[in-house]
Amino acid sequence: MVRKKTTAKKTVKKSTKKQIKKITAKKPVAVKKVITKKPVIQKDEEQLVLQTVRGMRDILPGDQAYWQQVRKVFEKRSIEYGFSRIDTPIIEFENIFTRPIGTGTDIVDKEMYSFRTKGGDNVALRPEMTASIARSYIQHGMMILPKPIKLFSMGPAYRYDRPQEGRYREFYQAEFDIFGEEDPILDAQIMQIAYRVLKDLGIKNIQFSVNSIGTVESRQEYLKLLKVYFRSKKNKLPSRYKEMISTNPLRIFDAKDDKCIQVCAGAPQSIDHLDKESREHFKNLLEYLDELDLPYTIDPQLVRGLDYYTRTVFEVYANDEFGKKRSLGGGGRFDGLIELFGGEPTPAIGFAFGVDRLIMEMKRVKAKKYQAPQPRVFLAQLGELAKKKSLQLFADIEQSGILVAESFGRGALQKQLRHANKLGVELTLIIGQQEALDDTVIVKNMLTGTQETVARDKAIAFVRKNLKASAKLVKKK
Ligand code: HAM
Repeated sequence: MVRKKTTAKKTVKKSTKKQIKKITAKKPVAVKKVITKKPVIQKDEEQLVLQTVRGMRDILPGDQAYWQQVRKVFEKRSIEYGFSRIDTPIIEFENIFTRPIGTGTDIVDKEMYSFRTKGGDNVALRPEMTASIARSYIQHGMMILPKPIKLFSMGPAYRYDRPQEGRYREFYQAEFDIFGEEDPILDAQIMQIAYRVLKDLGIKNIQFSVNSIGTVESRQEYLKLLKVYFRSKKNKLPSRYKEMISTNPLRIFDAKDDKCIQVCAGAPQSIDHLDKESREHFKNLLEYLDELDLPYTIDPQLVRGLDYYTRTVFEVYANDEFGKKRSLGGGGRFDGLIELFGGEPTPAIGFAFGVDRLIMEMKRVKAKKYQAPQPRVFLAQLGELAKKKSLQLFADIEQSGILVAESFGRGALQKQLRHANKLGVELTLIIGQQEALDDTVIVKNMLTGTQETVARDKAIAFVRKNLKASAKLVKKK
């Protein structure tokens, strides 16, 4: 039953009516000075440090719209390209990472968060997700699934790196991997996904670097040549890299210091020493990239800092207006990883974005962020009984699929209505003391200023009808 405006006049208590009329425009919010008390420290207690640990960050509510936008795009694209979501634990046995990533890599030698559990297991916080996903692939017998098997994952990773802009000790990766297919068309597709995601996020001037480092077997001859070359330049290399010449010469290409970069510039290049199949594989990949019109350059120095890669390796950047390359993600083939873990030979290709870096770039180019759906209804209440009743009404409105806001903590009706105004809702529902007794609700149309009292059990249907009408009104305007 819906009673008209005249009935409303009778039922609304005077004090409630007065307060409703007082809905005023926004008042500036007074900024309160935050006073923090000195913590009380017992004699033997360490002082509390109210700061994140170095290299770790809080992702505050103000940034969540970017994260939500990224999650939305990943969800859409991963479904579109046929990827299933997988989540693996943050802690794994340490050798799940050390063996495939390799000694001599920065990750294994310097950046692992490794520790022994109380039960005596040697474990590590994951520095990346590929090894965990490969472990899960074998553990859960995914090899029996129809191939290719496409998996998507997103979550935090940990590297004890030197923190700087875009480099943290806790960071987030979003990863796409395809198992069971060696055709280079999958390599091209994986790069196309990276490109599409970046475009969706509004990131501009995207560029790929691509290279092929051949298979583990065919690389042996090339590694011999590299050793000979680096030995001839030994005295130009810093001591850490001298040691790598005999153990893992490919890793010298990962070095960031100028001396090493200069030495590497003259080194033999992997693409000149590929086996026949790898050369054909790389040639076909480049043809697919041309076909897809993806912006790439061949970088013969690109080897990527993890040992498990074979054949294709690539990185993706955004070039800024000053010509600086902003690295956003990278990946490649890891055809030997499943076998290394004891599984059957399984070709695989994948890549990971650094999500923190995507968000940094989105902010830099002022890309679109996620717009959360706005509440269209506000629920206000006055008095103890009304407060109790509004709790259930709030849940009922929510359940009916209408987005509703409230401020149960705010006592004065005027304050609540001001808040409703600020939110820009179309309808405000008010339960005062009288309405609580009568089992009615006042429905105030915030666009027209009119209000009606309706029975509680008819309130949701009434709200729905009015929202439809107000949507039409807004459209007409
Ligand atoms: P990655 O190149 O070591 O590859 O890491 C992928 C991305 O994670 C990087 O391009 C970067 O954007 C981000 N990243 C890495 N370290 C940090 C850090 N300290 N702070 C912020 N962002 C960082 C991998 O991890 C491979 N597992 C990728 C892959 C997947 N290969 C095949 N499948």
